[in-house]
Amino acid sequence: MTSDKKVVLLTGASTGMGFEMMTRLAEEGYRLCVLSRSPELLCSDLLGGRWQDRIDVFGVDLKERKSVDKAVGEIWELYGRIDIVINNAGYGLVATLEEVEEAEMLEQFDINLFGLVRVTRAVLPAMRRRRSGVIINISSFLGRVGLPLLSFYNASKYAVEGITDSLRLELAPFGIRVHSVMPGFFSTQFARSNLQINAGIESEDSPYRSLSRRLAPKVLRQINEGDDPRLVAEAILKILKDPDAPVRIPVGEMASRFLTMRRELSDKEYERRVMEFYGIEPE
Ligand SMILES: NC(=O)c1ccc[n+]([C@@H]2O[C@H](COP(=O)([O-])OP(=O)(O)OC[C@H]3O[C@@H](n4cnc5c(N)ncnc54)[C@H](OP(=O)(O)O)[C@@H]3O)[C@@H](O)[C@H]2O)c1
Repeated sequence: MTSDKKVVLLTGASTGMGFEMMTRLAEEGYRLCVLSRSPELLCSDLLGGRWQDRIDVFGVDLKERKSVDKAVGEIWELYGRIDIVINNAGYGLVATLEEVEEAEMLEQFDINLFGLVRVTRAVLPAMRRRRSGVIINISSFLGRVGLPLLSFYNASKYAVEGITDSLRLELAPFGIRVHSVMPGFFSTQFARSNLQINAGIESEDSPYRSLSRRLAPKVLRQINEGDDPRLVAEAILKILKDPDAPVRIPVGEMASRFLTMRRELSDKEYERRVMEFYGIEPE
């Protein structure tokens, strides 16, 4: 079967921004193919049958190339096209560089960066042959500024920004657009159920205990009281509808606040303000 609707491949849609993108784009008439680690969650209660004719859900492990390739192959067989890829799945590792476990830091990159790479490379050969396509990577304002306890999340999102910038130039000759969206803090499941907290910083004898006691509750509160994820879905629609959309789009209050400060202040003054804001001080 071929589709006259544009086919969107989206990762990580069972909650948060991905869920909002999925339902908003379906509402706009796009056909959604969602790669999720929790297909049963998406297929049953959440969708309630409402979007059955516009959304297909594929159970995928983003850490396994075969699993990604299989789902992408099934989508080609079903619709004969993939017009748009939105790499959204991701989670946050909370750990210090000194205390992180080897497996934790590798897993952070395996999902946030290499998951995105596996999906994108599976789709590229056909997009390249058709000489059209749009790839949107959801990074973060933390792909441009650092925060303590989030070094590996930061590093994974800086890497997403780096890959996005290179890929845009690599794919320009083939007519494929590549964008990044940098959300600020948004109220989703991110801080409620998708943060992974390293055991080291939670232990009473961690040298970072007082830093994490001061910083973590503030950051968690800022995320949980953050902007409405529907804003991100609207930003995605704008990119899709405007071939001249900016290559990198910050969304939400914290993104514009931090990125403006970062651009306008010296490194020293920027860091002084961040330390003051989060109460980071000598032990
Ligand atoms: N919330 C924020 O403040 C914020 C700020 C900047 C950037 N971001 C980024 O925005 C994207 C969406 O996050 P969100 O805020 O909407 O959070 P969310 O509600 O936690 O949703 C993230 C989705 O990613 C998938 N996911 C989470 N952990 C995963 C894992 N270990 N392995 C595979 N898939 C996983 C899940 O989808 P499935 O269960 O369907 O697979 C989940 O629904 C992420 O890339 C995040 O880093 C978030």
